[in-house]
Amino acid sequence: MAKSSTRLVLICGLPASGKSTLAHQLALRIPAVRLDKDGWATQLGADLWDEDFRVRLEHQLWVLSQDLLARGQSVILEWGHWARVERDEKRLEARALGVGVELHYLDAPLEELIERAERRNASGEWTASPMTRAHFERWATIFQPPDEEEILLFDKPVAEG
Ligand SMILES: Nc1ncnc2c1ncn2[C@@H]1O[C@H](COP(=O)(O)OP(=O)(O)OP(=O)(O)O)[C@@H](O)[C@H]1O
Ligand SMILES: [Mg+2]
Repeated sequence: MAKSSTRLVLICGLPASGKSTLAHQLALRIPAVRLDKDGWATQLGADLWDEDFRVRLEHQLWVLSQDLLARGQSVILEWGHWARVERDEKRLEARALGVGVELHYLDAPLEELIERAERRNASGEWTASPMTRAHFERWATIFQPPDEEEILLFDKPVAEG
C-alpha cells in the first residue's frame, strides 16, 4: 500500500549533466531506491550503445518501479527522460498510484557537458565507447527540456541534492 510520503523521482538531463551524482545524494535523503539503467546494462554485460537492449531494460525497470511505488517504496529513475511524453507517462502513472512525483532537471551549457565527457573518457571509464562532441551536438537537438508550465505539474521536491 503506497504511503502518502512515497515518491517517484525523475531526473532529467543530457549525459554528464550530473544525474547519477544527484541520484546518489537524493537516495540517502528521501530515502529511495535508485534505479540506474547504465549500471544495470553494464553489470548484465550489455553494450551501453545497444539501443534495443536499453529500451527493454528501461521497460523492465519501469515495471519494477511501479511495483515498488505501489508497496510504498520511493524510487529514483536516473536516466535522462529526454522526451516530454516519457515524463508525462510517468507522472500520470505516479498520480494513478497515489504517490508523489518530482522532476529534477539538470541544465548545463553544452560546452560544459562536452568537457565533462572528455574528462570521463580520459579517466578510462568510457574508453571503449567514448561520447564525442558530435554526439552531444546531435543529442542537444533531440532533447526536449521541460518548460516552466511542465515543471509546475510536478510536486515540490522534498530533498535537494
Ligand atoms: N554540478 C556539477 N558540477 C561539475 N561537475 C559535475 C557536476 N555534477 C556532476 N559532475 C561531474 O560530471 C561527470 C558526470 O556526472 P554524472 O555521472 O553524475 O552525470 P550523468 O548525468 O549521470 O551522466 P550519464 O548520463 O552519462 O550517466 C562526473 O565526472 C561528475 O563528477
Ligand atoms: Mg549517470
